Amino acid sequence: MALSPQRRHLLLPIATLIVSLALLAGAAWVTLSSRNPGAPPPSAIGGPFSLIDHDGRPVTDETFKGETTLVFFGFTHCPDVCPTTLFEITQIMKKLGASAKVRGLFVTVDPERDTAELLKNYLSSFDKRITGLTGDRPAIDAMLKTYRVYSRKVPTEGEAYSMDHSAIVYLMDKQMRFVNALPIQDADRAVKEIQRWM
Ligand code: NI
Repeated sequence: MALSPQRRHLLLPIATLIVSLALLAGAAWVTLSSRNPGAPPPSAIGGPFSLIDHDGRPVTDETFKGETTLVFFGFTHCPDVCPTTLFEITQIMKKLGASAKVRGLFVTVDPERDTAELLKNYLSSFDKRITGLTGDRPAIDAMLKTYRVYSRKVPTEGEAYSMDHSAIVYLMDKQMRFVNALPIQDADRAVKEIQRWM
């Protein structure tokens, strides 16, 4: 359909208005972010969740606002990656110091086996600031989706199974906003990165 000259006349000011609004929104965003240099750039990773902690208490993302938080996903039957990650995080927390306001959240990808009690028992070998989280399958799946976590049940012998899962440690700021994937193999770099957000 060809536009009449009149319609075209109308379209130009509308287009100009849209462009101006976009520029204004852009300027407002730049102003906001320069006023608040401590905020990480907006991210699609992370968000609300509702689970129970390893003492059986109901918790949400709101519960953990106020402290820099490391979030990672795994399961207590994990043969190597999870214990290694927990050990590395324990070392990093030791380097940060006993009074450092930092917290770890170990979220199970295997809530069918990982009860609050089992998580608590398992985590007692690591830094006290690491809390285990579990919940029912839909609540866990919702959080896995929010954090873009890959996990899959892998049958082994008989009724037994293992879990494949991604092993990223998410560094979250005090508002539980995603900052970065933490370089846990390089403890000194990880410590510096966490301190930037404390
Ligand atoms: Ni694991």
